[in-house]
Amino acid sequence: MRASWSPVLVVLLPTFAAAGLVDQVERALLSITDCGTCHSALPTFKAVANLGDAAFVRTITAACIDLKIEDPDVCEGAIRTQGPILAHDLRHFSLWGQTATKFCEAVFGLCEPPAVNAYEVPFPKPAPETPKTFVSRGRPPFQMMHFSDAHIDRQYTVGAEASCTKPICCRDYEKRSKHVKMPALPFGSRNCDAPTPLADSMLEAAEKFGASAKFSIFTGDVIDHIANNRGSISGVSQDMQTFSDQMAAILSAPLFPALGVYSSPPTNSFPRNTTEHEITSEWVFNAQRAGWSQWIGEEATKQLRHHSGSYSTMAPNMSLRIISLNTQYWYKQKYVMYRVVMRDVISNTCPRAVSGYMTATRNSTPDPNGILAFLVQELQAAEDAGERAYIIAHMPPGRGDVMRDQSSYFDQVIQRYKNTIAGQFYGHTHADEFAIGYSNYSEQTAVNAMSVAMIGPALTPMSGNPAFKIYDIDPDTFEIMDARTYRARFYDPHYQLEPTWELLYSARELYGPIVPSFSGKGPLNPAFWHDLTEVFHKNDTAFQTYIANKPRGREFIWSPCQGACKEGTLCEMRTLRSDVCVCLHSTSR
Ligand SMILES: *[C@@H]1O[C@H](CO)[C@@H](O)[C@H](O)[C@H]1NC(C)=O
Ligand SMILES: *[C@@H]1O[C@H](CO)[C@@H](O)[C@H](O)[C@H]1NC(C)=O
Ligand SMILES: *[C@@H]1O[C@H](CO)[C@@H](O)[C@H](O)[C@H]1NC(C)=O
Ligand SMILES: *[C@@H]1O[C@H](CO)[C@@H](O)[C@H](O)[C@H]1NC(C)=O
Repeated sequence: MRASWSPVLVVLLPTFAAAGLVDQVERALLSITDCGTCHSALPTFKAVANLGDAAFVRTITAACIDLKIEDPDVCEGAIRTQGPILAHDLRHFSLWGQTATKFCEAVFGLCEPPAVNAYEVPFPKPAPETPKTFVSRGRPPFQMMHFSDAHIDRQYTVGAEASCTKPICCRDYEKRSKHVKMPALPFGSRNCDAPTPLADSMLEAAEKFGASAKFSIFTGDVIDHIANNRGSISGVSQDMQTFSDQMAAILSAPLFPALGVYSSPPTNSFPRNTTEHEITSEWVFNAQRAGWSQWIGEEATKQLRHHSGSYSTMAPNMSLRIISLNTQYWYKQKYVMYRVVMRDVISNTCPRAVSGYMTATRNSTPDPNGILAFLVQELQAAEDAGERAYIIAHMPPGRGDVMRDQSSYFDQVIQRYKNTIAGQFYGHTHADEFAIGYSNYSEQTAVNAMSVAMIGPALTPMSGNPAFKIYDIDPDTFEIMDARTYRARFYDPHYQLEPTWELLYSARELYGPIVPSFSGKGPLNPAFWHDLTEVFHKNDTAFQTYIANKPRGREFIWSPCQGACKEGTLCEMRTLRSDVCVCLHSTSR
């Protein structure tokens, strides 16, 4: 679907535009309707970028406010953080190269993304001819808990306005306005991130349901959505430390966290170590090191810094290596500029995004900051030692917001070490879901299903009932025997007094009986999940149950998932590679 401008908008906007530069930028923005017109508008943006970051930010902010894209303070905050990356990119790429097309694809969603650039990930050794077999001795499973996307707003104010025009509400923006339409409630509100007591409530419930858990994982995103855009380093560091303390105070078993999306003011993405910009992510690694060392140990704490926020450590008393990756270098950041052009057509198109710093690299590296190399090194060590491994990270590798190149190279690593990798765990989508990787994407069958990613639900009530998961794990093979989702019902009348946490479903009990190939014994392995997708293709009732479970309750489904939504969801279940599903529907973020 291509953008088309409502005539009313086109006539109205230039009339009120400010003079000069801002006017030119607005006209350039409004002229963009497809890939070709995007290319034509780039010289204007590049000229403004050449005036320097400050001038670029000032001009785009004025256009954002003038075009009423967002509230003025939101325009100001978002562009202050995002503008310098865009300006940096614009200054560095050629207007006629592949990067210009990537930029148009990413910022405005208006060009087909270029094909993946061929690259072979180097491996220290070929895959063993007779891979080690991991056999269950039928011992009782152990438990592992999974938390994700807490998004705690430490400035959440009970009684503040919960219905506002900002990206998040429930903050005392105007120091106790007298006219509160919808007051923020003690355990959260729908337009707001999580208040602190909600996180306490979840962790206490988890401690009860997962009393025997050997360890937990947290797949990232500690802080609220506003701080992601506008945080100060000290404020964000403080919030990260507070959450580490909160988890340490309540959880008795060790926790293995993965890094989420954090802002590195003045930008909101992790700079590559090759970027000639005076921006560093050191402070994020430092803030996390302080809170995480108690769980991950000394070696892994050192790795956090040297491997750009990634580490590897052994699960307690087990032959299981936990490899925690900072995959933010592969993330396409969504930009306010996208909304400038797409706001009229946003519901008809897929969310597109731009990658901070990625577009700018002239001598572009296939493996920014060596994340893939680190993963390969750790998986090789696990293979050599006869261990199994879990990969944990914030972003699932197969969605549209992951750069195609890096997603495809990551896939090569999974293919090579599929025998060692016993599980992958992610967050970021805020939904409770899964995704399967195949050894041959042209033939998506149970036999070719080689890995499955469990994507954990969010705590923040913005995206559904607050939830977490507990897995049963076979202690010999480290395969998943069951995945149970626990949630608190947000619309329960007692919720605001004290959330009641309860089991929503057990994947084994809910899906086991409807998968014909499943004997009732054995693990929920990739073949099982593949066969479940076969059931979803045929049985719409079963599929709609899955859809209702994504936000942990039907009350959060505002329209049925049919047509393009269903097609897109079924496609996303069957990929860990971001170039497989081309923009069929918008994901749940
Ligand atoms: C690991 O095993 C040792 C010895 O059996 C035990 O003392 C220790 O508590 C165990 N650690 C954990 C975290 O389970
Ligand atoms: C950047 O990271 C890569 C991969 O880890 C590493 O080889 C390179 O030396 C680093 N460069 C700098 C300037 O730190
Ligand atoms: C992948 O599947 C396709 C379609 O069935 C087949 O033509 C191709 O040979 C397969 N590739 C490999 C490497 O097995
Ligand atoms: C479809 O799935 C539902 C569970 O969601 C199950 O009750 C029903 O029996 C299934 N229908 C068929 C025809 O298998």
